[in-house]
Amino acid sequence: MTNTTIAAVHGRRVWDSRGRPTVEVDVSLRGGATGRAIAPAGASMGSGEAVDLRDGGKKLGGFDVGRAVASVNGEMEQALIGQDAADQAAIDAIMIARDGTANKARLGGNAIVATSMAVLHAAAAAAKVPLWMHLAQGRKVRLPLPEIQIFGGGAHAARRVDVQDFMVMCPGAASFAQAIEWTAEVYLAAGSLMKQAGKLQGVADEGGYWPAFTSNEEALDTLVRAIERAGLEPGPQVAISLDVAASEFGKNGRYALALDDRALGTDEMIAMLGRWLDTYPIVSIEDPLAEDDAAGFRAFTAAYGDRCQVIGDDFLVTNAARVAEAAASGAATAVLIKPNQAGTVTETRAALDAGRQARFGTIVSARSGETEDTTVVHLAVGWDAGQLKVGSFSRSERMAKWNECLRIEEAIGPDASFAGGAALGFRPVQKKVTNDGLESTSV
Ligand code: PGA
Ligand code: ZN
Repeated sequence: MTNTTIAAVHGRRVWDSRGRPTVEVDVSLRGGATGRAIAPAGASMGSGEAVDLRDGGKKLGGFDVGRAVASVNGEMEQALIGQDAADQAAIDAIMIARDGTANKARLGGNAIVATSMAVLHAAAAAAKVPLWMHLAQGRKVRLPLPEIQIFGGGAHAARRVDVQDFMVMCPGAASFAQAIEWTAEVYLAAGSLMKQAGKLQGVADEGGYWPAFTSNEEALDTLVRAIERAGLEPGPQVAISLDVAASEFGKNGRYALALDDRALGTDEMIAMLGRWLDTYPIVSIEDPLAEDDAAGFRAFTAAYGDRCQVIGDDFLVTNAARVAEAAASGAATAVLIKPNQAGTVTETRAALDAGRQARFGTIVSARSGETEDTTVVHLAVGWDAGQLKVGSFSRSERMAKWNECLRIEEAIGPDASFAGGAALGFRPVQKKVTNDGLESTSV
């Protein structure tokens, strides 16, 4: 027995930002330290994700988590009491083995991820340091480049426009705090432009303005105008980032656009995104094609991977093997890292390591269904991921995370280094002219 031996595990039902039930877990250790975490929930999910255990039926739309809470307070507590919270890999291996399914369906991805993260928090508390510092283990870490939603869309806004997230990133900012301040100006400016145009209709699931637009391009135009109105330079200072989340409207190489009343093939999708890249200062595109379109991902990355970061979310589902495969085949240049897609902290870390191995950009991400839990911020900083995506610039389940990151930046002090634009996962093709005048290209 040590003071990091697990003494108790307790699950309870709490509620997320969509008003749906979710699982919170408290873990207490022999030495008195405690840890707490809450499972988030996605709306546009990849088919390869760990799945949440929900009760089904009529009550609460089938979303209740009675069975998931019971698996925490029953089987998982039994299996974890007496184990060492400082050995995260062993804890996660026990839960994976107990569950026994490939997708964590039996005990529930929601039950497992909340427990895994609560154990991690308890271990940091026992070491008497903030979680990010516990994870950094003395290594120098950077504050992440934030990716912040201005307009919501896709599955988070009743498919009003196809693209799910119209976001900004501030590669020209000198610090995390400055990136946040610039984004605040852009968010404010976008709100006044929407109001002027009579299009201000509240916000979508992640707190970005409701996309009362007649085309994806109108959203992009408005975003560029908002950056300008904020007195910032579109591109060098504040750039655009998109999550197309194409699995939501694409299957078998056909993409059904909501507003256009037509379906595009893979090549036409790539051509449309290429036109957007030519027209707007876009530095990052997530899930440009559907999760079943690996060939499309390869074609898009070959065509534009030197001009923007190509992120796999539904396509890679925070899975180390899928990341390695995408790297080997040139199907992406970056990976979104969502703990509840993988299901445990250990598997999440493995996916991040696979991304790093491939020299991919790595973006730690929250979900559309969130809470006050700020674990992802600590993972992004402590693991030095370089980028962080937690939704928009409104609503406290989002602001809790940006604010936590500001506190960490302040705690690190004047030494704090900001990952900035260098964290983006794309490598512009270098044209080298050799002595005999021949041009060669390398990535
Ligand atoms: P989700 O959306 O949490 O609804 O899956 C976030 C994303 O697609 O990045
Ligand atoms: Zn996504």
